[in-house]
Amino acid sequence: MFTVDDCRIIELDRHHSQRKGDICVVENCKEVPFEINRVYYLYDVPGGVDRGGHAHKSLYQLIMAVSGCFTVVLDDGGQRRSFVLNRPYKGLYVPPGIWRTLEDFSSGSVCLVLASERYDEEDYIRDFGDYLAFRRG
Ligand code: TYD
Repeated sequence: MFTVDDCRIIELDRHHSQRKGDICVVENCKEVPFEINRVYYLYDVPGGVDRGGHAHKSLYQLIMAVSGCFTVVLDDGGQRRSFVLNRPYKGLYVPPGIWRTLEDFSSGSVCLVLASERYDEEDYIRDFGDYLAFRRG
């Protein structure tokens, strides 16, 4: 079972091009320690709204603020950690079995998620009581 101590910021490859902006690259299984099978993004999140509020049984994710800023609060049933994401070249690696909430979205922010599996509602644990029972095995 992973804990919040296994979650970490991964810095992605950045390439500067003078006066033309920057480019950031992610290649499968290179920067991220899993195979990417799905990409999705959250945008137009109204101020004050929290997203997430669930855990995944077997999904690995890299969560990025490709624009703007938000906070990811992680909980493993014992410990909590918070990460402020506000750089498009930094991703938060979240392995399976970690409860997460995304909050404090700045206006216009975009949360890009790289995920190891295609969408499967069966992989979600959406109730915190069920989550604690899952953690206890
Ligand atoms: P959910 O993961 O609960 O959103 P969040 O954690 O950001 O609050 O997903 C919201 C809705 O979108 C839910 O009805 C499931 C659907 N959805 C898909 O159909 N495919 C996907 O890949 C994802 C991430 C969500």
